[in-house]
Parts: sequence; structure tokens; C-alpha cells
Amino acid sequence: MTTNSILLKTLRGEKTERPPVWFMRQAGRVLPSYMKIKENYTFWQMMQNPEIAAKVTLLPVDDLGVDAGILFSDILVIPHALGMGLEFNDSGPLFDQPLAYRENPLAGLNPDPSKLNYIYEVIDEIIRTKREDIPLIGFCGAPLTVLLFMLQGLGRKGDFPEAIKFIYENKETTKKLIEVVTDLSVIYAQEQANHGIEVFQLFDTHAGLIPADLYHELFMPATKRIAAAVREKNIPFIFFPKGLGTGIAQITPEDCDYLSIDWQTPLDLARKLVDPNIGLQGNVDPRLLYASQPEIEKALKPYIEFGSKNQNWIFNLGHGFMPGISFENAKFLADWVKQTDWGR
Ligand code: CP3
Repeated sequence: MTTNSILLKTLRGEKTERPPVWFMRQAGRVLPSYMKIKENYTFWQMMQNPEIAAKVTLLPVDDLGVDAGILFSDILVIPHALGMGLEFNDSGPLFDQPLAYRENPLAGLNPDPSKLNYIYEVIDEIIRTKREDIPLIGFCGAPLTVLLFMLQGLGRKGDFPEAIKFIYENKETTKKLIEVVTDLSVIYAQEQANHGIEVFQLFDTHAGLIPADLYHELFMPATKRIAAAVREKNIPFIFFPKGLGTGIAQITPEDCDYLSIDWQTPLDLARKLVDPNIGLQGNVDPRLLYASQPEIEKALKPYIEFGSKNQNWIFNLGHGFMPGISFENAKFLADWVKQTDWGR
């Protein structure tokens, strides 16, 4: 158990002098130390080697000074454990035979929970080697985002047109596919908890690609199952439904403890829309970090007022770090959070 963690204190509802800070995609290409390790391994090799994956997970704790580590893995390990052939190359993930192009999409899936065992070894190694005050965040992808990749393979222009068409054309098959993904995700999330993660985040990066009503009808029941499985283990549950827009007003405290807000939604508006018993996380536009440091500092000003009034808030981005963001600006952002007087 991690004691004295500012992130866990905030999640427990205790008062802190500043918001905790971590970043989505913090253990990646924004770090020169990561780029150096990456010269010698493929992404799969890094993920599957407990020593290297643990080391990479903890790099941003030392290099950026963030308040938590997030497991170095990927949301697409679930399709892989369902039997899909998956590669990561320079342009992103690539599936062998995306499901939308198969005669019978359900028939080819073979859930094998043991294909996730290497990840629990990574978690064990992180817990063994991490600093005592730094908790480990576990995660998985939400059924919609995972299914979009499974159906289409690589997202063309990021909007997955063939996958969305499949969902509308094959609602009953889609429901069954959601169940297969969710069943394995539940096992995976609980096993991460058994191995020592202390916070969990569910990534639904592409929640905004279908209407909010359809999202709540088709996908929220699955998300609720994953949330319940995580919370059964007494792990706080953060939910990131990117692009859901005003659909965040329908999220209830039964669905999550914290809601991660995307960069499209103003944080003050999110606070008005979202149930007051749900904490917020976010939502700095990662692209702000392409700007100069004086411009970054200016754009951050409104966050000071928000943070002085809201204790139940975790500082983060509104999506992950982008390619080409400078390490200096990422570090500047983490330092700014820690050096600002939050008037609490
Ligand atoms: O630092 C962390 O956030 C922890 C590790 C992490 C990765 N992927 C490592 C990774 C996490 C939490 C993810 C989640 C993930 N993976 C999401 C949801 C969050 C988001 O950013 O939207 C999605 C959609 C994926 C699928 C995926 N994996 C894509 C589309 C890509 C290629 C594009 C890209 O950003 O590089 C990946 C590869 C990937 N996952 C990398 C990393 C560090 C890049 C590998 C490399 O360094 O070449």
C-alpha cells in the first residue's frame, strides 16, 4: 500500500495544498530517456519485458516529477488476448484481419486470459521497484474504443467509418462482441488490482464517434460492469469518455469516481454538467505545449481559480502527449503545478 500519495489523498477526498498531477501518455516519446531505450527494442518487446516495462513506467516519475506511474502497456492487449494478430509499427497498431471484413466476426475470437500474464509480471516488478509514495495506475480500453480498432484495424483519419457502419448494420452481433471484450476486460482489471495497482483509468478515446444516446444505450452497460469490477477491489475508478460532449451530464456516481475531461469541454462547464459527487480530471489541451512557455503560463491562469475552489480535481491533459512536444515544456507544466500557490 502506498502511503503519503497526493493522488490517493485527493481520490479519498482528503484536503491537499495542490492538485495531484500526472499525464496521459507520460511514459512515451516526450521523454528523451524513453527514446533512448526505444532505439534497441520494438514496442512489443518493451511491453513484454518486465524489467524494461517497469523501468519505462517509472521514467516520468523521475524525469517529469509526476505524482503517479501509469502501467506501460496498451489498450490493444485485449484484442491480442482474444486471438487477433497485432503489430505496432511506426504509424501505429496494425491488425491482421480486422473483424468488419470477416465473414463471421464472432467465430474467430478465442479469449485466453493467460495471454495477459506477462502484464501482471510487469506490475509485480513495478511494485517492487517504485518509490514508496508513488501509486501505480492500471488501465484498459473501454469496449467502444477497443472494438473500433478490432473492427477496422487502423483508424483511417481517426474516425473509423467502416467500424461505425458495422455497428449500425449489425447491432446484435455488436452486442455480443461488446460482451466478449467486456468479459475479458473485467478479468484483466481485477487481476491488475490483485497485483497492486491502486488507481484505475478506463480509456474511451473514441466515445465521441457515435451519438451520446447510442453510447449510453449500447456501451455504458459494459463500462458499468468494468467500473463495478474495479470498485469491488476498492480501487478508485477514473473514466475518460473523450468527445462525449454534453453526454457527460448523464454519467452518475455509480459509473465512476472521477471523470477525465477532454480538451474540447471547458472545465468550468464540465463542473456544472457533471454530478457534484464525481471528481474531475484534466483538461489541458496537449497542443498548448507546442507554444512558448510564457504563452503556456498565460493559458494556465484560469486553472488556478478552478483549483482553488475544487479539491476533487486531478491535474492532467485533455488527451495524451502528442508527437513533437518538447520535454522542456512537459517538465515546465509539471513544475508549474507543483510551484503554483493554489490558495487552498
Ligand atoms: O504513458 C502512458 O500513457 C502509458 C502507456 C499507454 C500506451 N498506450 C503506450 C503506447 C497507454 C495508457 C496507452 C493507451 C492507448 N493505446 C489508447 C488510449 C489513449 C489515447 O492515447 O488515446 C489508444 C487509442 C491506444 C492505441 C494505440 N497504441 C495507438 C493508436 C498507437 C499509435 C499511436 C501513438 O500514439 O503512437 C499506440 C502505440 C503506443 N502505445 C505507443 C505508446 C508509448 C507508441 C509506441 C512507440 O513508442 O512507438
